[in-house]
Amino acid sequence: MDLNEFLRRADALEASARTLVASLQPGTRLDDAKGRLNAVAAEEVAALRAALRTLPPEDRPAAGQAFNRLSQALTRVVENYAASLRSANSGVGATDLSMPARTQWRGARHPVTMVIDEIAGIFRELGFTIALGPEAETAWYNFGALNFPPDHPAMELHDTLYLRDDVLLRTHTSPVQVRTLQSYRPPVRVLIPGNVYRRDFFDATHAPAFAQLEGLAVDEGISFVDLKATLAEFARRFYGGTRRVRFGPSYFPFTEPSAQMDVGVGLQDGRGLRWVEIMGCGLVHPAVLESAGLDSERYTGWAFGMGPARIAMSRHDINDIRLLYDSDVRFLEQFTS
Ligand code: PHE
Repeated sequence: MDLNEFLRRADALEASARTLVASLQPGTRLDDAKGRLNAVAAEEVAALRAALRTLPPEDRPAAGQAFNRLSQALTRVVENYAASLRSANSGVGATDLSMPARTQWRGARHPVTMVIDEIAGIFRELGFTIALGPEAETAWYNFGALNFPPDHPAMELHDTLYLRDDVLLRTHTSPVQVRTLQSYRPPVRVLIPGNVYRRDFFDATHAPAFAQLEGLAVDEGISFVDLKATLAEFARRFYGGTRRVRFGPSYFPFTEPSAQMDVGVGLQDGRGLRWVEIMGCGLVHPAVLESAGLDSERYTGWAFGMGPARIAMSRHDINDIRLLYDSDVRFLEQFTS
């Protein structure tokens, strides 16, 4: 093919594209129109593109420009047709075929649920099973059995949501420790996910209802070494081996000694490192084992409780817990996987 033939064929193709679109049945759908155009033009466009490479070098600039004009012209032919469809359909009573379809929402897991599922997967590998308990709980399971002294401030109305005198919305998942130990003899290794309730204002760092994940291991001869080794192994699997963790002293009425586990976030070089507390933990207080009817001379155990929302927040750099708990789809859909 020489330059003249190239230019002639490019012009001819543009002309036949216009003719084809002009002769379409009124109302032909855009996709169909594109298909028809493609059937006529694809082969010829390919032939011209191939010829660009075989033309003598001095003819290539002119041919290249003609080829570009042709592709633009073909695009414009389609755009014009789409525009004509839109205006033809914009009259009263007409169906607007260009109107976007109604969005189909696809369900997805919540970022807090993803954290819970991941952690549950790790503890399953470590030999834990899932245990559940009621959200409406008695004061005895929520406090008394867990060795809270009778006048403990957490029991007061401004912290706890009472349903009746003696029935409340559980403020933590720890009552399920006692329920589990009443139903199953040691060795016990359970992970307890669940929602808990506190009489807090809904602000950047507090939610009146939020998820907790509790862990409990009770057997003969369990010591703090088991707690530390298991939780460090959990952190290694959850965060990867490079993340630093540390344990520090803490206090809970139902564990003795009590500790907290922090993970380092940010730069791990020591300068940008921040410590975020991800759980409270400790050896199960003998009084708790006795509440469940176990012999605390024979059995020992360890437990932890963590807030998966906090973990999701540090994972995704979210600085306001309300984002996780007020169910705004525009926020949540970022996490669909
Ligand atoms: N129940 C404690 C809380 O809600 C967490 C915890 C659980 C601490 C188990 C130690 C052991 O803060």
